[in-house]
Amino acid sequence: MLLVIKLLLVRYVAPIPQVDADCNGNVTLPCPAVNQENMDFLALAWYKEDSNGKRHGIIRKSDDGVMAFENGRSASFGTMHSLLLNWVNASDEGTYLCAMSANVGGQNKDARVELTVRGKSHVNQIFPHKMLICAHYRIF
Ligand SMILES: *[C@@H]1O[C@H](CO)[C@@H](O)[C@H](O)[C@H]1NC(C)=O
Ligand SMILES: *[C@@H]1O[C@H](CO)[C@@H](O)[C@H](O)[C@H]1NC(C)=O
Repeated sequence: MLLVIKLLLVRYVAPIPQVDADCNGNVTLPCPAVNQENMDFLALAWYKEDSNGKRHGIIRKSDDGVMAFENGRSASFGTMHSLLLNWVNASDEGTYLCAMSANVGGQNKDARVELTVRGKSHVNQIFPHKMLICAHYRIF
């Protein structure tokens, strides 16, 4: 009995998938909420969560097509509803949420992915307001 409960807990708190990207590179974030290309849903959206857990919309798709959220980072959809980000920089680091809104009778699903950007610089001494530039552009 105890073993069964343990297994259920382990399953339930599955770790958030981690994805690494190179600064200035492109990255694909898989949507853990879906497992097939031709999934039947009302809409699917990608958000970035800030440190307060607030969601900021990036891109969304439904029968009406693909729509970018206002003030969202530019992005596109890849296969299996993944999120494609070009020219990644340190400000792209963080937690992303893929949220699927089900059709009537279905179950909504959402899941997070964590993005880490490699090769980012620390605070730039000469241009402190550009603290997020990539390391290989850093001015020493
Ligand atoms: C990232 O994608 C853009 C646009 O598709 C392309 O021009 C660029 O070469 C890609 N960068 C890398 C590092 O693959
Ligand atoms: C990082 O990329 C975003 C979106 O492409 C851009 O608005 C922002 O200025 C970039 N940050 C730096 C420090 O280059």
